[in-house]
Amino acid sequence: MKIKDVNINGNLFLAPMAGVTDFAFRSLARSFGASFSYTEMVSAKALLYDNKKTKDLLITLPNETPVGVQLFGHEPEAFKKVLIQEELQKFDIIDINMGCPAPKIVKNGDGSKLMTDFETAQKVLKACVENTSKPVTVKMRLGYSKDVSEDFAKMLEDNGASALTVHGRLREEFYSGEANLEAIARVKQTVKIPVIGNGDVTNKSSLESMLQTGVDGVMVGRGALGKPYIFSELLGKEQKVDKFKLIKEHIELLEKVYSEEYLSSYMKKHLLWYLKDEKGANKIKIQICNEKNLQACLLILQDFFEKCS
Ligand SMILES: Cc1cc2nc3c(=O)[nH]c(=O)nc-3n(C[C@H](O)[C@H](O)[C@H](O)COP(=O)(O)O)c2cc1C
Repeated sequence: MKIKDVNINGNLFLAPMAGVTDFAFRSLARSFGASFSYTEMVSAKALLYDNKKTKDLLITLPNETPVGVQLFGHEPEAFKKVLIQEELQKFDIIDINMGCPAPKIVKNGDGSKLMTDFETAQKVLKACVENTSKPVTVKMRLGYSKDVSEDFAKMLEDNGASALTVHGRLREEFYSGEANLEAIARVKQTVKIPVIGNGDVTNKSSLESMLQTGVDGVMVGRGALGKPYIFSELLGKEQKVDKFKLIKEHIELLEKVYSEEYLSSYMKKHLLWYLKDEKGANKIKIQICNEKNLQACLLILQDFFEKCS
């Protein structure tokens, strides 16, 4: 598929997930067939300050090409200033987060709160479109507490958005219930720009249901947790995965940037996700939760996977 002038080899997108889709995880997902990936959401305003932690979120690896950055905020001026920064020039697509439901985000007027304020959402989008020649895309939900998705999508298209990702839920639903595929289909009918459908795609059958809405692309979030290889399954190219090797690769890539201490705590959730579908892993899940040292966790995992094979 094509977003403005950016060619995307395929239609499977890895969802941006804060605190999860680090550059190593995204690179693994791409190696398993994800066609496109965005950084996790990064505050447009925070990027204006020289903060290492924020700037680290912009790290990408060479196999993540083309690649997008996702920005959040509500101040057009911050978006305008950030788009001309050197660090953003390597990105092929600029995405604006208008879907995040988290209380700490919406209380500032960011994320899905923008769906209650068309005027500010429009100004933010315009600030981006007018300050970059790259495609600007928006990730939205169906609305905040009521479905405004068709009107909102039309407004975004009219103001220069090059594609939309639609997560088929309202903000007030957070992640409960099922994604509303009919609503996604209606958005697709409303606009001419590409629409990427998002919500609850975890296997071939849910992928098929999402594609039946007529969307141009499909974005996978939680289905990829502990499973960056889900993309090869969705593509019908299942391959035998050496999970321990995968985990080590994930860690080794991150070790080039992050300290052992940071990774010992950060990697824990990933390790538990990697063990999600493993039979007989309950005991080592508890051991991993209690272990403070990442190398010790790796030894526990090595022992477990050796016994499994
Ligand atoms: C832990 C977590 C972090 C997320 N962070 C972001 C984010 O940074 N930006 C964003 O647009 N959506 C974020 N999302 C929402 C996902 O991108 C996606 O829209 C949502 O999970 C629904 O897709 P799924 O059913 O495939 O998981 C996050 C979701 C989760 C579970």
